[in-house]
Amino acid sequence: MMDIVVCVSGGGTNLQAIIDAIADGSISDTRIVCVLSNNKDAYALERAHKAGLESVCVSPKDYDDRESFNDAMLKEIDKYNPDLIVLAGFLVNIPQKMVEKYRNRIINIHPSLIPAFCGKGYYGLKVHEKALERGVKVTGATVHYVDEGTDTGPIILQEPVRVLEGDTPEILQRRVMEQAEWVILPQAIDMIAKGMRQ
Ligand code: GRF
Repeated sequence: MMDIVVCVSGGGTNLQAIIDAIADGSISDTRIVCVLSNNKDAYALERAHKAGLESVCVSPKDYDDRESFNDAMLKEIDKYNPDLIVLAGFLVNIPQKMVEKYRNRIINIHPSLIPAFCGKGYYGLKVHEKALERGVKVTGATVHYVDEGTDTGPIILQEPVRVLEGDTPEILQRRVMEQAEWVILPQAIDMIAKGMRQ
């Protein structure tokens, strides 16, 4: 059984996709041992509660500096001794010591086809605004391992999504979530779980 901690900051639709995929068997041999958020108002925490999952909030607002927040977040995660940490719309820079401690065991979902529209400052709606501004005809989502950089780790899965006439950033974001993020994040977790089973 693969134990995963899912880290969230917002609406939690990717978390919900994982919860649903475990429930319907699309993700095998996996259980969410904790949902961790940096934002006490994240609706993702409500989703965790409704699914009967353990959740915790470690908020930067409760710490004097970034270092002590990072230490508290890592200490909390260590409690669950996860096999895999899943960043599902998690808007926190992962500290070096966490990348080292969980090397190749942290994955992230990014709402573009990396290496396009990624890196510092590219998150959420901003990614889709930039894609529309550039006039790309295809965008999508990427699941990748987290390393020391921002959206720079080895790519695990990608799914393309067509950009349509009249798309706004919000419409495009929704299509990328529905047709790409919510598909490849559960797929990647299942692949890793199966790899663990061997
Ligand atoms: C969305 O912008 C999504 O594209 C990205 O993180 C944001 C929040 O996703 N992955 P979620 O609904 O909290 O999973």
